Amino acid sequence: MRRISATALFAAAVLAGGVAMAQGMGGSPAPYRPGPHNITLPSDWETRFIRFATVDKAERKIIRHLYVNPEAFAAARPGQPLPDGTLIIMADTRARLGADGTPLRDHSGRLIPEPGWIALGVQEKRPGWGEGYPPEKRNGTWEYARFLGDGRRNDASVEACFTCHIQTRAGQDFAFDFWDYVQKRQ
Ligand code: HEC
Repeated sequence: MRRISATALFAAAVLAGGVAMAQGMGGSPAPYRPGPHNITLPSDWETRFIRFATVDKAERKIIRHLYVNPEAFAAARPGQPLPDGTLIIMADTRARLGADGTPLRDHSGRLIPEPGWIALGVQEKRPGWGEGYPPEKRNGTWEYARFLGDGRRNDASVEACFTCHIQTRAGQDFAFDFWDYVQKRQ
């Protein structure tokens, strides 16, 4: 009698566990819905991410610093789509200007960044993302988001991010400098 009730108890516990899992207890995430809200700016990106390129934009008087998460930096291979979980950050600073208003250059001929970010643009790819965008907009499994220089979300439209990246870079997994960097690195 004792043995039977122990077995019954065990079966009930397994059943309860199964029901709890099916109901999504234990914090399963909400279903995917396309949009910039999917991207979270990692709080430690400035210290943890790898800066793989810096682009001087003299005509716009800005410097564009390009960072990627170290996991994607290590896993990316030439000719392959970029790894799932790739998160690329385009972080702009103002260029230091001379008295005449034109950008100053350092000893290597590069622009000189002023302290502080003025804007952040982010692209991130994850399995299952991109579902729900029309084919003329969808960039594979990438999402795009904008943040202000201080890391708060910038709710301005990300429509142009999709339309420009899809036109020019569909064959290079919708990325620019990181794709190019991976093809050429030694
Ligand atoms: C008119 C075309 C165009 C638009 C619009 C555009 N991009 Fe880009 N994006 C580029 C180019 C070109 C680069 C390469 C870096 C450079 O030269 O500035 C780039 C680079 C990037 C990068 C760095 C990744 C890499 O591998 O180079 C990120 C991140 C990025 N863009 C995100 C965005 C986001 C977010 C938006 C929308 C807010 C956006 N882009 C809108 C053309 C565009």
